Amino acid sequence: MNKSINAAVYEKHGNPADVLQIESRPWPVPAADEAVVKMRAAPINPADLNQIEGKYPVRPELPATPGFEGAGVVVELGAEVKSLTTGALVILPHNVGTWRDAVAVKAEELVVVPDGIAPVQAAMLKINPLTAWRLLHDYVDLQKGDWLIQNAANSAAGRDVIQIAHELAYKTVNIVRRAELIDELRAEGGDIVLIDGESLREDVKNATRGASIRLGLNSVGGDSALRLANCLVPGGTLVSFGAMSLQPLKIPTGLLIFKDLRFRGIWINKWYDNATPSERMEAFRPLFEMARRGLLKTRVEKAYPLSEVKAAVAHAAQSKRSGKIILEFE
Ligand SMILES: NC(=O)c1ccc[n+]([C@@H]2O[C@H](COP(=O)([O-])OP(=O)(O)OC[C@H]3O[C@@H](n4cnc5c(N)ncnc54)[C@H](OP(=O)(O)O)[C@@H]3O)[C@@H](O)[C@H]2O)c1
Repeated sequence: MNKSINAAVYEKHGNPADVLQIESRPWPVPAADEAVVKMRAAPINPADLNQIEGKYPVRPELPATPGFEGAGVVVELGAEVKSLTTGALVILPHNVGTWRDAVAVKAEELVVVPDGIAPVQAAMLKINPLTAWRLLHDYVDLQKGDWLIQNAANSAAGRDVIQIAHELAYKTVNIVRRAELIDELRAEGGDIVLIDGESLREDVKNATRGASIRLGLNSVGGDSALRLANCLVPGGTLVSFGAMSLQPLKIPTGLLIFKDLRFRGIWINKWYDNATPSERMEAFRPLFEMARRGLLKTRVEKAYPLSEVKAAVAHAAQSKRSGKIILEFE
């Protein structure tokens, strides 16, 4: 009997729940420098939905299998692969399409996960935690006790920022749009949690006793991003990495002239592509360490099997979730 796999596939861009289908494919055969990875888990991130919709800067050749992120177990090695062993839990690169039962990948592109990290958590370490780490290291030279502010603080990326900042002894002002998240985010290590609104600047001033905030992290855009920028001290930096409101940034010229604010952005896929293998491992090391100690954890609202991918993407597109929607493989 020939072995086969199932894969999520879209032939045209559109609403993910409409355009995704499950198709049967032959079991992957590894080239000499490849390993076959049997998938264990893959999250559904906003970027995955954007790419299926055709709203992402990179458009794959169609038909395509989505999935920028995921982890699985090495089950087969190409003839020349010496760097891996079967049974290893690995994180996949962002360009293979992880929403499938198994995939053949160049061995050198796989990142081996150390023992003590659950596959579901490993599957979500590459995009949000790595982005959070870079956001906290590459833009402002933060010292212990320094403050930063972020919106959408309850997002997976926002919670990673909270957890990593807490570990590094930075203080966070966390902006959310739902009051029920305040206690939860405080319990995760958020120093201050506030509801977004017109009085944000005053609220932040009062809550931090006028602390100097030099770093703002924006994944919402529109008015929320402007309110964040208004909380920064002169010379401060606002780094944008998402646009959940789908609204553009509106920056008054005065923030540039009179406050000399700096506006930056990050795209983690680009950072990853440009990084050397040792820079990547350097970045993963502290994340693995935190994950192993249970200090870096991504919440999951619901896990779906691949066969229910349509329901899974519809669920992932909903706001006010308590955590990620993931695909979990048998
Ligand atoms: N540039 C990069 O390389 C990079 C890397 C990682 C992540 N990202 C981006 O970061 C963002 C967050 O990703 P994630 O995986 O952490 O997302 P997530 O866990 O799915 O969380 C989504 C967040 O967006 C909020 N939100 C949804 N619609 C909103 C709206 N209209 N106005 C304001 N807030 C809204 C949600 O708030 P509620 O819970 O209240 O609905 C929630 O806090 C996404 O835009 C993602 O693409 C970018």
